[in-house]
Amino acid sequence: MKATISGLGYYLPEKVLTNQDLEKMVDTNDAWIVDRSGIRERHILAEDEPCSLMVVEAARRALQDAALDPLQLDMIIVGTVTGDMLFPATACLLQAELGAVNAAALDLGAGCTGFIYALVAAEKFLLASDMRHVLVVGADAVSKVIDYTDRSTCVLFGDGAGAVVLAKTEDQNGILETYLGADGRGAKDLCMPAGGSAIPATRESVEKRLHYLRMNGTEIFKFATKIIVEVSDRLLKQAGLSYQDVDLFIPHQANLRIIQFAAKRMKMPMEKILVNLDRCGNTSAGSIPVALGEAYEQGRLHKGDIILMVAFGAGLTYGGAILRWGKD
Ligand code: UT7
Repeated sequence: MKATISGLGYYLPEKVLTNQDLEKMVDTNDAWIVDRSGIRERHILAEDEPCSLMVVEAARRALQDAALDPLQLDMIIVGTVTGDMLFPATACLLQAELGAVNAAALDLGAGCTGFIYALVAAEKFLLASDMRHVLVVGADAVSKVIDYTDRSTCVLFGDGAGAVVLAKTEDQNGILETYLGADGRGAKDLCMPAGGSAIPATRESVEKRLHYLRMNGTEIFKFATKIIVEVSDRLLKQAGLSYQDVDLFIPHQANLRIIQFAAKRMKMPMEKILVNLDRCGNTSAGSIPVALGEAYEQGRLHKGDIILMVAFGAGLTYGGAILRWGKD
């Protein structure tokens, strides 16, 4: 018995923020952003649009693709750290919106690794119980916690959501191997200091700009280049496969230089690697499912293809999955 993706969909906000727009907001320029990150533009939610807007739309598209009635969902897991409210879970807002009254619902916070963590959790729930369908969403509205006066972070992130329906299957396609990890010693390298129970919102916390994302870019860069290769090596070993067997590699879309570094170490041609960060920036937990959804839409996924997905992010968390694509 395996868990396999039976439907997928994604959503990117309509509004686009280009490097040229950012040049007017902070002391930066298109050449620096493209050279240091590979990003040219990103989609951003409008002021009155919450994360759940993307979550609901991506989920609807995935359910439609799977031809599944929301009543058939047993569980909904939303990987996000920028849900509509601290509580309740955005998964509960989605459950109500879909009318998926038979589904348990929870959010899972693992930063940019949120979708991978949610996917693995969903797979385990499916295989260990009588559940038959789990909806997994990866989504983040990072623009809502970005300090648009901080040039070192505001150029990197965008908003986006992707969703998959995970179903039980007895055939050979589906999730083959998974791996999750974390190194909490790096927790402060990427965080939003205030708004939780450590520093609840006060006038002072707002004035000190503590409700915005803070990042130690250099440390994350070093961590990412190391961990992306380690996770890939480990997953392939677990699956008894080699890099040559991989048809498509979908890495977390944080920085083109991180991806190129990994590609070189893995001796993998860039044609086999999905890159959409030039148009989307880093959409955190949305990154991998949006990229997967785009690949599906573009006809890049064929039945039997081996797909490797690896993410890293706040926590510091990391993880990946190898799947054999089972949809036509
Ligand atoms: O999902 C995980 C999320 N995070 C990441 O993946 C981030 C990983 N880290 C990175 O992608 C890179 O470290 C960055 C893109 C954040 C930074 O690139 P870098 O090549 O490591 O640049 P740097 O931080 O060493 O900064 C070099 C210079 C600095 O100026 P000085 O001190 O040398 O005069 C920065 O102030 O570039 C400056 N700088 C900028 N200049 C123009 C920083 N941001 C900008 C900017 N425009 N937006």
